[in-house]
Amino acid sequence: MGKSQQLYNKAKKMIPGGTQLLSKRPEMFLPDLWPAYYETAKGCEVWDLDGNKYVDMSYMSLGACILGYADQDVNAAVKYAVDKGSASTLNCYEEVELAELLLDIHPWAQMVRYARTGGEAMSIAIRIARAATGKDIILFCGYHGWHDWYLAANLADDKALDGYLMPGLSPKGVARGLQGTSRPFIYNNTEEFLALVEKYRGKIAAVVVETVRNYEPKPEFLETIRQVTKKLGIAMICDEVSSGWRLNVGGAHLKYGISPDIAVFAKAISNGFPMGAIIGKAEVMNAAQDTFISSTYWTERIGPAAAIATIKKMQENNVPEHLIKIGQKVQSGWKKLAEKHNLDISVSGIAPLGHFSFNYDNALAIKTLFTQLMLEKGYLATNAFYASFAHKEEHINRYIDAVDEAFEFISKSLKNKNVEDDLKGPICHAGFKRLE
Ligand SMILES: Cc1ncc(COP(=O)(O)O)c(C=O)c1O
Repeated sequence: MGKSQQLYNKAKKMIPGGTQLLSKRPEMFLPDLWPAYYETAKGCEVWDLDGNKYVDMSYMSLGACILGYADQDVNAAVKYAVDKGSASTLNCYEEVELAELLLDIHPWAQMVRYARTGGEAMSIAIRIARAATGKDIILFCGYHGWHDWYLAANLADDKALDGYLMPGLSPKGVARGLQGTSRPFIYNNTEEFLALVEKYRGKIAAVVVETVRNYEPKPEFLETIRQVTKKLGIAMICDEVSSGWRLNVGGAHLKYGISPDIAVFAKAISNGFPMGAIIGKAEVMNAAQDTFISSTYWTERIGPAAAIATIKKMQENNVPEHLIKIGQKVQSGWKKLAEKHNLDISVSGIAPLGHFSFNYDNALAIKTLFTQLMLEKGYLATNAFYASFAHKEEHINRYIDAVDEAFEFISKSLKNKNVEDDLKGPICHAGFKRLE
């Protein structure tokens, strides 16, 4: 057992769940063996506490580090902000520069507010939408964070049924009075959306969508939401926390020709430094003045400085084009190698946020074995790949060779019915299920 694993065992005794983000728990990857902590992360490489080096072909900090770890240009902007004072009684001017940049990229929007994480930025968007419309109900599809407005969807009439709409997201601790205030619908299911609009007519504050995630939107899906919400005076909110900046510089809604009332950014907008932005039409955003939305660290300087540097670098280098190319290469590599080794997998996700699943009863055990084999070859790998600007052709080529060997091993292991026997530790945990 290395230093990382020992430290994680210690952490679990003091930090409930061991980490602050479900998706960074080692149990989600390779229980007992995953190098839980890093000393250094640079480009797409990571060094653990024992000095082992890995190429990160997994989540790149869950999609936050779109340019790669410790990007020198973003770091330079942040170091300048730190040296000049990261906070003071006065506000940082970078907030205004960032607002201009965001509004220039999204001409449909006129106003901006800031937060520091995706979930809280989404909560702000919901509060503004409710304040602007005077209504309560939220219809949504996709994942939007941990806050009460969202988890309320998992409160059922019968306590025993709590959690049934979105498995794995427990609403324990969310006030039962919020039951019925948010309702999910399935992405691309226009009929289901229209039925919900009918059911809650006159009570809906906002319709929230992850603009794109696992599937491209059907031609009429986003447009119908836009038309219906406009007609009924409902705020349309595009959650771009994961979809933003990957297909184009800005929100993915620009690519699909949709002008929402509000769009929300976080994660990739600032390449690993905390930042979130809520942009929107003036008539909706002004409602932020009619309610109380305020927090000390939403005014610090590092986030806006990092976001400005990140966005400028994305613009200068056409980063999304690179992410799409690299992501496509990985997805087609998975497909070809699965075919070569007779493995039944399904590949999905937009090119920069690809993932695959093993179509077997013991899928979790096979996924664990894949991670184990890849870790032994020097990769942080799971059944997903979030592309970054730091991933170059040579990383992908070497990764594909490693996957070739791993898939060959798995294929043999499946034939001999000993996947579990080939594991050196327990099977990984399943995450929560996103409502697709
Ligand atoms: C679409 C979307 N919205 C919101 C969030 C929550 O963001 P955060 O984890 O920064 O709170 C996420 C995180 O995965 C996300 O993918």
